[in-house]
Amino acid sequence: MKTLLLLLGTFILTISPLQAFQNIQIIPKPVLVSEKPGSFNLNENLSIYISSDDLRSEAEFLNDLLFATNWKGYPIIISDVLPKTDFISLSLSSEIDHDETYSLSVTNQGVTISGGSRAGIFFGIQSLRQLLPTEIEHTDPSLVPNNINWEIPAVEISDVPRFEYRGMHLDVARHFFPVEFVKRYIDFLAMYKYNRFHWHLTEDQGWRIEIKKYPKLTEIGGWRDSTLIGNYGTGKYDGIRYGGFYTQEEVKEIVAYAADRHITVIPEIEMPGHSSAALAAYPEFGCFDKEYSVATTWGVFEDIYCPSEATFSFLEDVLDEVIELFPSEYIHIGGDEAPKKQWEESPIAQQVIEREGLKDEHELQSYFIERIEQYLNSKGRQIIGWDEIMEGGLAPGATVMSWRGESGGIEAAKMGHDVIMTPNASNYFDHFQAEPTIEEPISIGGLTTLQDVYGYEPVPEELSEEEAKYVIGSQGNVWTEYMHSGAKVEYMAFPRAIALSEVLWSPVDQRNWELFLERLQVTFDRLDILGVNYAKHLRK
Ligand code: ACM
Repeated sequence: MKTLLLLLGTFILTISPLQAFQNIQIIPKPVLVSEKPGSFNLNENLSIYISSDDLRSEAEFLNDLLFATNWKGYPIIISDVLPKTDFISLSLSSEIDHDETYSLSVTNQGVTISGGSRAGIFFGIQSLRQLLPTEIEHTDPSLVPNNINWEIPAVEISDVPRFEYRGMHLDVARHFFPVEFVKRYIDFLAMYKYNRFHWHLTEDQGWRIEIKKYPKLTEIGGWRDSTLIGNYGTGKYDGIRYGGFYTQEEVKEIVAYAADRHITVIPEIEMPGHSSAALAAYPEFGCFDKEYSVATTWGVFEDIYCPSEATFSFLEDVLDEVIELFPSEYIHIGGDEAPKKQWEESPIAQQVIEREGLKDEHELQSYFIERIEQYLNSKGRQIIGWDEIMEGGLAPGATVMSWRGESGGIEAAKMGHDVIMTPNASNYFDHFQAEPTIEEPISIGGLTTLQDVYGYEPVPEELSEEEAKYVIGSQGNVWTEYMHSGAKVEYMAFPRAIALSEVLWSPVDQRNWELFLERLQVTFDRLDILGVNYAKHLRK
């Protein structure tokens, strides 16, 4: 890393950024880019070399990516013998010690990608993709113009991410998105070198993951009778039954698909609040003998799991199935927006407060979260929770996702807890991205422009260097109350997620809004070919 920084220093002195990136338009911007004379032309003699059979999946991914070139020789030969010319070489290097680091070298003879791990190689492939003509994005060869020169500029790239945790979130509960869309979303995250997909699977408005021991979670909890029309407060409903869920087979398919793209899927199973759908299916886990229903409007609801032994057994059973499906070290247990009114009124909840010597209902929430943390720890997993989990005392090993601004994250980092910054002002992609004129589609409100996202700095000034190490990364959140379709998700998420990818990956002193906007135009060309419904406010 030190050598890399030294090299970088020399590089900045000799070449101005504008010159340096004339041809190289990669997002997120690599740490070190040095353009060379010459280029490499892909032709029908190309073969992909792998230094180890472990790289076969990355080679196949690359092979699929090059499909648009539509050579006679497709699929491309994958070989363990390195030819003298016309190669793309993928090689694991024991000299590269950071897991996600890679180097990429293009000469007249071929392309060499080295990485310390399969993930590094994969990120190198994503950079190579952005060195190729944008037409490489075609998946239908009949649409590729036949005069394309598949030329790659000669270059040396050395690259390493700034943050370990680079996340995007998707709420599939307020609206449900089919497997094919979730895969497409993961494809775009991979393109911009994200490595975490936070999948928000349970909510008041729908439970979206099959749990075999509790089939009513999806039979009943997966469906609502109606949905609010227009913004909150209209009082108008569409009267249409709405829902859906992912079978465990589909979940496995998505987790494997993401893993092939070096993205870990973190499931979120909300508790103790945001649980109306679960309680509609199994009212015995609420505090009152009343009718619970799957919510048809948005907001925060009073219905909450009762902290009874029966509820803990239920949640442990659910989590047992969840951890079988998700290899992720982290399991997100929610913890946000849990009103305490029902606990104040419930004799069962009050007995637990007394039995455990707790001060109040906030401490009861902490007791609840700590029990779940202990259970997950016993299975070798760690919890992430929204910053409300700090209110009655923070569970000992919890990672805090700071969303109500940064103060929760700052406090948690000072206490020595890992933190993921996702403050709503800059990281909530359900907000408007331009002044809400008549042309902007309906949204939850707020205004978070592309420049707001690009300008976000995940490490707050209040933290010392030592404390700052606890900020492991940041994430963009896509809550879908007002996103009824995949096309709308794309409109809200892109290009904001693209701007955030650079915040997460690139050195902070290399961030430059004007140059980013230039590079963004090239990425827009790619997204056009991929048919992405991104927001075009800054399309030139
Ligand atoms: C949240 O936005 N309620 C985490």
